[in-house]
Amino acid sequence: MAEAHQAIAFPFIITHDGWDVNVDQEVLKLVWRSGVRSWKRRFARFMNNVHNGVYPARLWTLWVFMSVVVAIHYSGYKAPYDLVSIIMPLLPGTNLKWQLIGNAIVAMLIWLTVIYSVRYTLKLLFMYKGWMYETRGRPLSNKTKIWMILVRILSSWNKPKLYSLQGSIPKLPLPSLKDTLIRYLASVRPLMNDENYKQLEKLAKDFEVGIGTKLQRYLILKSWWSTNYVSDWWEEYVYLRGRSSLMINSNFYGMDAIVKHPTKNQAARAASVISACLRFRRLVDRQELKPLLIQNCIPLCSSQYDRTFNTTRIPGIETDEIVHWKDSSHIAVYHRGRYFKVIIKTGRMLNPREIQEQIQQILDDPSEPQPGEEKLAAFTTCNRTEWAKMRKCFFNKGTNKISLDIIEKAAFFVSLDDVPYIYDPKLPHKYDQYAKNLLHGKGYDRWFDKSFTLCIGNNGKMGVNCEHSWGDAPITTQIWEFIITEELENRFTKDGNIVGKIEITPPAPIRLQWDLKSEAIEQIENAAENAKTLIDDLDLTIFNHSSYGKGFIKTCKVSPDAFIQMALQLTYYRDAGDFCLTYEACMTRLYRDGRTETVRPCTIESTAWVKAMDNKQIPTEEKIKLLRAACDRHQKNYLDAMCGKGVDRHLFCLYVVSKYLEVESPFLQRVLSEPWKLSTSQSPLGQTGLDFKKYPECMGSGGGFGPVVDDGYGISYIIVGEDDIFFHISHKKRCKKTDCHRFAKKLEEALMDMKNLFSTNDHNIHL
Ligand SMILES: *[C@@H]1O[C@H](CO)[C@@H](O)[C@H](O)[C@H]1NC(C)=O
Ligand SMILES: *[C@@H]1O[C@H](CO)[C@@H](O)[C@H](O)[C@H]1NC(C)=O
Ligand SMILES: *[C@@H]1O[C@H](CO)[C@@H](O)[C@H](O)[C@H]1NC(C)=O
Ligand SMILES: *[C@@H]1O[C@H](CO)[C@@H](O)[C@H](O)[C@H]1NC(C)=O
Repeated sequence: MAEAHQAIAFPFIITHDGWDVNVDQEVLKLVWRSGVRSWKRRFARFMNNVHNGVYPARLWTLWVFMSVVVAIHYSGYKAPYDLVSIIMPLLPGTNLKWQLIGNAIVAMLIWLTVIYSVRYTLKLLFMYKGWMYETRGRPLSNKTKIWMILVRILSSWNKPKLYSLQGSIPKLPLPSLKDTLIRYLASVRPLMNDENYKQLEKLAKDFEVGIGTKLQRYLILKSWWSTNYVSDWWEEYVYLRGRSSLMINSNFYGMDAIVKHPTKNQAARAASVISACLRFRRLVDRQELKPLLIQNCIPLCSSQYDRTFNTTRIPGIETDEIVHWKDSSHIAVYHRGRYFKVIIKTGRMLNPREIQEQIQQILDDPSEPQPGEEKLAAFTTCNRTEWAKMRKCFFNKGTNKISLDIIEKAAFFVSLDDVPYIYDPKLPHKYDQYAKNLLHGKGYDRWFDKSFTLCIGNNGKMGVNCEHSWGDAPITTQIWEFIITEELENRFTKDGNIVGKIEITPPAPIRLQWDLKSEAIEQIENAAENAKTLIDDLDLTIFNHSSYGKGFIKTCKVSPDAFIQMALQLTYYRDAGDFCLTYEACMTRLYRDGRTETVRPCTIESTAWVKAMDNKQIPTEEKIKLLRAACDRHQKNYLDAMCGKGVDRHLFCLYVVSKYLEVESPFLQRVLSEPWKLSTSQSPLGQTGLDFKKYPECMGSGGGFGPVVDDGYGISYIIVGEDDIFFHISHKKRCKKTDCHRFAKKLEEALMDMKNLFSTNDHNIHL
């Protein structure tokens, strides 16, 4: 989502230790550390697996193996390979007890060999990506069919737990330098004139035969040694070293179901959502959550769930740190300027009705905020370096440290707002306000450092504000779908309370104490003032496109995502009179520890079509043909990006290595400093199997994020049902060239023009 922001020219500084440094060794050390980190994670997971059973086998099969080996041994056969006699001399005894132990060891070895062969075979199978490129609606190729059968057979032995398939997920492949450069040059061709392009081509060539080869060597090493050659650097350099405010620039938001409004009681809704989140956390802890499987057999990497809960991003002078606590049995709640600690576990988890009671006590608490308390969270909107300094200065001891600790170590943060969140088709600006409220609130009522802040409007509608470094939007969407699913089961009584009884008196919420001196209060006021400036500069609108949606687009025989991206291209061209570098996020979770890759929707084909659209001389048929070509190109690029054949992550990693080696590469410098004026992302829907056809009132309008550059747009969209598409469009007011409302209007026209292409003609039938 908003990651494109930091991806441009991230100005990180490398501090080498010591005076006389050998930079090559430094990079090797860096690569080494990446590997060690991933091995540590693998080891932790391995221990976890030993605990939870070794996928794909069940434990009882081990006992069967042991009995068979013992039986074979004592029936006098020397099979298999007489392993028992080989093992026996290594053991300290030869009596019956040791013989049995010897047999057990052999059985265990055979058992593990079988398991690991199956896992490895699965991994090899999952490397095959041919299935993705097959056209929907056509019969599958024989290769894919056979492949699918094999995968099904090997993975059907046992129901996988959340992390069971991790060991079988392949590593992200490192593309060759040549391929990446070819793709890169093709992607920027439509954005430059011949002369500039020639120059760039030369830079690229020099890079390829020059320093590029050396940089690539380090990446090859890294890709062998660690599980993912991108993700840890991406997290560190794009997120954690980013110094600008998290609010608007980095955090993103997600909204509630559009029409469903299960209760108007704020405390009841808050309790329902909180307890659903806690249940989700428990499913993750126990690995009982079903791993996401594409086509019911190809797993997506589950590593991002690790840090969804009990997590905070702690500011640092040079770089932030994501801190995760193994243990967190409370949540932190903000209401009307006051902070509370709410304990949610006393022997057992509190039930939702009991949590409602606690939330009600907070809402009914008449006390006033302490000095400085109300706007305290404005610190989390500061420049990260400054926040780190303030944190050291004001929160290093005593009451303040204790209270800050409680917030940071909470399972998550909850904001009980004193405004309603309104959806009314007749008052669209109220819906815009709702979205803005989630993205930034008042600038001091969300804890932007927390992995996520649940926001509850005083009319019982909810939303979420998410920090971005620990994970990407699909995880949050999944949690939201989980909440909605839970709420489908008669959660509320007629008068809006939670169904159920208070069985134990829940612990009363504890007011956090602060001891803030005038100096601190002044800084807080300052931070809140700055936050307000940022907020006032942002404009955001939600555009509900309801005249047609996925249903119609499919009759045009193109991918809905490609169609919408083309609409955005056309709109931007009409709005700005030019093309721009466009960013679309796509996930790479088909690979271990994968996060995202960039798709570049502005292509040679798309620009050809866009230019043709407003040319009256070109017949409709030709326009349709160009549109199809553009969509096909986009679709191919999208799949390539998902399969590790993108452009941007590879170049990014090369850049990181070059920084460490202290070599200047004019080519990389140039690539990494190009601004993404159009940053787009599609929100996923329906990952959890919640049937939106059956419950259309549960459908959500997704979420959004701020613009990535000052003179650009941030656009997120979600395809809702067959006939609706929601766009969240944001821009900065300080730029006079952009305007999200104007963009939305032009987008509507563009979508209409595209529809007309097809309806004045029935070419879609025989093309
Ligand atoms: C798949 O195999 C069947 C049977 O061998 C053959 O008839 C069919 O043409 C093959 N299909 C494709 C797409 O190759
Ligand atoms: C953040 O603050 C530091 C030092 O206070 C300053 O050097 C840096 O430029 C600031 N960064 C941003 C993005 O404002
Ligand atoms: C978070 O804290 C809870 C409660 O102490 C604990 O049970 C759980 O394991 C922690 N979650 C994670 C993902 O570490
Ligand atoms: C979108 O707007 C249309 C017309 O304004 C309305 O009929 C429709 O219900 C809206 N869609 C949703 C999902 O609210």
